[in-house]
Amino acid sequence: MVSRVIPVEAFDLVIFGGTGDLARRKILPGLHRRFLAGQMPANARVIGAARAELDDESYREMVRGAIAEFGDPQDQDADGIARFVAQLHYVRVDARGDTGWKQLGRRLRKDVIRAFYFSVGPGLFEDLAARLHSFGIADAASRLVVEKPFGHDLPSARALNEVLARHFRENQIYRIDHYLGKETVQNLMAVRFANILFEPLWNAQYVDHIQITVAETVGVGGRGAYYDRSGAMRDMVQNHLMQLLCLIAMEPPSRFDPDAVRDEKLKVIRALEPVDPHHIVRGQYEADGDAPSFREDVGDPRSLTESFIALRCHVSNWRWAGTPFYLRTGKKLRRRCSEIAVVFKDAPHAIFGQEAGRHCNILSIKLQPDEGMTLDVTIKEPGPGGMRLIDVPLDMTFAEALAKEIDIDDVPDAYERLIMDVMRGNQTLFMRGDEVEAAWAWTDPIIAGWESRGDVPRPYEVGSSGPEDAAMLMHRDGRRWREIR
Ligand code: NDP
Ligand code: BG6
Repeated sequence: MVSRVIPVEAFDLVIFGGTGDLARRKILPGLHRRFLAGQMPANARVIGAARAELDDESYREMVRGAIAEFGDPQDQDADGIARFVAQLHYVRVDARGDTGWKQLGRRLRKDVIRAFYFSVGPGLFEDLAARLHSFGIADAASRLVVEKPFGHDLPSARALNEVLARHFRENQIYRIDHYLGKETVQNLMAVRFANILFEPLWNAQYVDHIQITVAETVGVGGRGAYYDRSGAMRDMVQNHLMQLLCLIAMEPPSRFDPDAVRDEKLKVIRALEPVDPHHIVRGQYEADGDAPSFREDVGDPRSLTESFIALRCHVSNWRWAGTPFYLRTGKKLRRRCSEIAVVFKDAPHAIFGQEAGRHCNILSIKLQPDEGMTLDVTIKEPGPGGMRLIDVPLDMTFAEALAKEIDIDDVPDAYERLIMDVMRGNQTLFMRGDEVEAAWAWTDPIIAGWESRGDVPRPYEVGSSGPEDAAMLMHRDGRRWREIR
């Protein structure tokens, strides 16, 4: 295996909310993996901060538990964990009071990168940003990492941007959309902009339509209250699916640098047309035997929030005029499967006659599980019987294709990669403030539309592909969704 790990410089990373669910499930096990991969320098330090009465030792114990529970089974070596937790510290801090701030300031070193991860609810962002400033803890070189949801709508996102802008410049702010940290999502850019093969065909002249599916088998878990206020549109489409759409639809940036990439993504979001209400299908999962319905899960028997959404939208520019983008995401569906399918048009002239049937090329980019790409190519069906055509996949599962090059299990997960990018000072995979606002500006009227009409989500069965009407959305256009496999 070839090691491609590039160590980062020494840092002090403060995790506000360092005892919370996200820190325990993702951030700390992720840092542990980077430590094991040799990417976290020996003089880097992670400082958990929250109100709980802990000290360094009890915090380390908590993190040991988090790694045991949420870390990879192969990363459980006691010696590795002991060396990692020795780099962890804890300071008791109240975001809304004076407790702990001076101690935190004293613990941080002057000559290393300082990063502050706001792994707390957005209601605390203002307090944290103001105190980091007033206690002289953050300076012009410090970096700030903020979690989703970044706002609930355009006014709240603007307000958050303003709060952060009072004390930090845009080039210090790293807004996380963890989909941008996924390996295949970044590969989208490599596939598009490092190969000459696809780009000439990547437009409305050759592409019939694009499908983006993020299907989950999980329900709302313990996040019922949050989810009932958000729904699939705010929770998934406004951020993750729109980011995927941007990477598919954007023009080639002039350079692979943060602002060049984000400028192009922003243009896509701004070119999105308002969505016709007839092109939106919302759904809610029903009870399944003993398993609760969505309404039971969120504890609201009259909830009109969607756990599924499918919609058709258009990017109104020269490249994409007339090519629909179909987006679909939902919980408790048949399989966990995230895929982007670029469905090309039929060949312009059919020389093989009616019996050959209709065929088209499909480039499918699989995000998870089994990351990879497939290109469906039409060939002659082998054997006698005339010129019958079939579509066969040119299959490239990354794990297989790269087996000799890299151990795919060592590829950092989204959070690991994003945290290391913060330490490298690379904002390419983070959302800029104007991007987030533009995304809400497109999303808000869609939500306001169904709220004012009082639309009721369609029920769907757990383990299905979503409500029937979602299939109709495609059928009406003479198209069909790819199977959720
Ligand atoms: P939790 O409720 O599990 O954790 C909240 C953390 O904030 C705790 O460590 C808590 O510790 C701390 N905290 C709360 N109030 C204060 C305060 N006044 N001062 C200092 N610390 C405080 O939340 P999550 O970890 O689930 O979520 C954190 C953020 O990440 C949220 O914005 C969430 O939307 C986002 N997110 C979470 C995901 C997840 O899977 N959990 C996924 C994506 C985003 P204490 O009470 O001891 O102070
Ligand atoms: C989160 C959403 O941002 O993404 C969750 O809040 C969703 O509802 C999750 O389950 C999906 O992420 P992944 O990486 O499992 O596809």
